[in-house]
Amino acid sequence: MTTTSSHINNYDQSTYWTAPARNFRTSARLNLQHFLFQNTLGYLLEPAVEKSLTNSPRSEPLKIADLACGNGVWLTELHSHLAKTNIPAQLDGFDINPVNFPDAAYLPASVSLQKLDIFTPDLPAEIIAVYDVVHIRALVSVIPNESTLKRVFSIASKLLKPGGFLQWEETRGDKFIAEAPSQQVTKSACEGIIQILQGSLQQRGIRNDWVDALDTHLEQFGFQNARLLVQEKRKQDYKGWTEDYLMVWEELADLFPMKAQAPSASLTREAWVDMFATAVGETEQGVVVHQARIMTAVGQKPQ
Ligand SMILES: C[S@@+](CC[C@H](N)C(=O)[O-])C[C@H]1O[C@@H](n2cnc3c(N)ncnc32)[C@H](O)[C@@H]1O
Repeated sequence: MTTTSSHINNYDQSTYWTAPARNFRTSARLNLQHFLFQNTLGYLLEPAVEKSLTNSPRSEPLKIADLACGNGVWLTELHSHLAKTNIPAQLDGFDINPVNFPDAAYLPASVSLQKLDIFTPDLPAEIIAVYDVVHIRALVSVIPNESTLKRVFSIASKLLKPGGFLQWEETRGDKFIAEAPSQQVTKSACEGIIQILQGSLQQRGIRNDWVDALDTHLEQFGFQNARLLVQEKRKQDYKGWTEDYLMVWEELADLFPMKAQAPSASLTREAWVDMFATAVGETEQGVVVHQARIMTAVGQKPQ
C-alpha cells in the first residue's frame, strides 16, 4: 500500500459538492452514471416497491422525494416511466447545489427541484411526513461514518409517511478494481491511483462496509421489511464506468499542491497529473476500472 496519500486528504465532503468546479462536467458525468446504474438495475423504482404503490387505485398522486438529486435525471426518467401507465405523481428533488438543475421550463410539470442541504436542522415543514417514497442514490462520498448514515436515515424517516419506503442504491466508494484484458497489458498506474484513493480513506478512518449491510442498518434504525438486492455490473458497461471514474480522477488534481508551493509534498499535482495521463493510456489499451456491484436497499417506515 502506498503511503503517498496525505494531500488528497484535502477532500472535504461538506464542501466538495458546492465548489464551482462541480459544473456542467459534473452534470454530464452524473447523466452517464445514471444510465450506467440503470443498465445494471433495470428499474427506477424497485419492482416490489412499485407494485405495492401502484397495485390499488390511489386517491392522491404518488409523492416521491429524491435526496441529493444532482441534476434530477432519476426523477425526470421516473416521470416518463410513470406517465406510460398514467400514474399521477409529484416528484420532488432536493440538492445542496442547484447549479445543475435544468430550468423549470424544461422539466415535466410533475417534477420540481429545490435547493436544500439535507443535513439542515430546519427541514421545511411542508416536506415532513408527506412522501410515499424517499429515494437516495450515490451519496456514499458524503457519508464518512455510521453516525452520518444514521442522520441520513433520520432525515429520510422524517420525510416519509407512515408505511412509506426508503429506496437507496449505492456502490462502495472505498473499493475499486482495475482489470486488464490480458497479462500483456499493464494496469499499474490505474492500480496506483486506486491505492492512493483507498489509502487516503483508510488514513481518515473512512470505510464503506455499511453499504454491504445497508439492510441490517435500516432494520437497526427501525425501518421494517428491510432487504438488500445485489446486482453485478455488466461487463459491457465497464468501459463507461471507467470513463466516469477517469472524469472524477481528473478533477481530483486540484486537491494536490503544486510542486512549487509544496516541494516536500508526498504527492504533488504534477505527479498526479503524470500518473493520471499514464492511467488514461492504460485504459486506451483496454484496462477497465469498476466497482463490481450495486446494492439496492429498501425499508419501510413503521405504520
Ligand atoms: C454523486 S452525486 C449523486 C447525485 C444523484 N443522486 C445521482 O445519482 O445522479 C452526490 C450529490 O449529493 C449532493 N449533496 C452533497 N451533500 C449534500 C447535502 N448536504 N444536501 C443535499 N445534497 C447534497 C451533491 O450536490 C451531488 O449532487
